[in-house]
Amino acid sequence: MPNESQKSELNEKYKVFREKFIVYRDKILALHNDSLEKTVAVALSICFVCAILVSLSAVALRPIQAHNKALDMKRNILDVAGLLDEDVDIDSAFSEKIEAKIVDLATGDYVEGMDVAAYDQRKAAKDPSQNIVIPSDQDMASIKTKAKLAKVYLVKSGEAIQSIILPVHGYGLWSTMYGFLSLDADGKTVQSINFYDQAETPGLGGEVVNPNWRALWKGKKVYAESGEPALGLIKGVVDTSRPGSEFQVDGLAGATLTSTGVTNLVRYWMGVEGFATYLNKVRTEG
Ligand SMILES: Cc1cc2nc3c(=O)[nH]c(=O)nc-3n(C[C@H](O)[C@H](O)[C@H](O)COP(=O)(O)O)c2cc1C
Repeated sequence: MPNESQKSELNEKYKVFREKFIVYRDKILALHNDSLEKTVAVALSICFVCAILVSLSAVALRPIQAHNKALDMKRNILDVAGLLDEDVDIDSAFSEKIEAKIVDLATGDYVEGMDVAAYDQRKAAKDPSQNIVIPSDQDMASIKTKAKLAKVYLVKSGEAIQSIILPVHGYGLWSTMYGFLSLDADGKTVQSINFYDQAETPGLGGEVVNPNWRALWKGKKVYAESGEPALGLIKGVVDTSRPGSEFQVDGLAGATLTSTGVTNLVRYWMGVEGFATYLNKVRTEG
């Protein structure tokens, strides 16, 4: 807080500024309307006023934007869990049905004592104190770094897990695609997938958000007999009568590169570098 002498000094400065401003303003207003100086001064004043309005609205809208972003994330999680009901309040549906947890990817253990709601895995992946640089020969999903801790979501019925919702991301053709993969409690059968942030071409790679394509994932198996992630997209349409089709999803027509990106990111995040250790623990320890 400024003391009395600082306050009067500030007052003095303000008075001087105000007087100078009035002198300049009167000078400019006295100019002819067609003069260059007056035109430039009016244009600059309008820019100044607009800049202040834009800045004020950006600051005022920030909390609303943050709330809407969080709400959108909850909507995506409810959607991939098959629990989205547009007639029900998202916040209350989410808090009633979904439990968020932090998982240490290296050990597969839950991390207790953290503020789960405040933890931002995407930010952590870019923070050298919270991330791991992925060696290029292991970087199947082309993401360069990953957070050591991941935020997973559980749908429970009493103490029993019904769905495990895992954040996944990886590079497509034009963009890093961020989404969620939900699995049954067995940790190996897909319930659904959705991508909430991607910039692939609409109608081509952008079909990753198409509900008809997303529906093809239900019931697919993630792991082969060997324990390695085998689920992936194929070129064309899956022949469900063939053995192995449980590991296959139709590729996106005209978007082989995005399709490869989806396969790579699913295999990366379901592998030992991703959630395999955690999912093993869920299977064995519940
Ligand atoms: C304007 C434009 C946008 C494209 N967008 C995508 C895209 O989002 N994802 C993708 O995999 N391929 C996209 N492609 C096509 C790729 O360049 C490439 O040809 C395609 O992945 C090969 O797939 P295909 O073998 O199924 O034809 C685009 C091509 C053009 C000309």
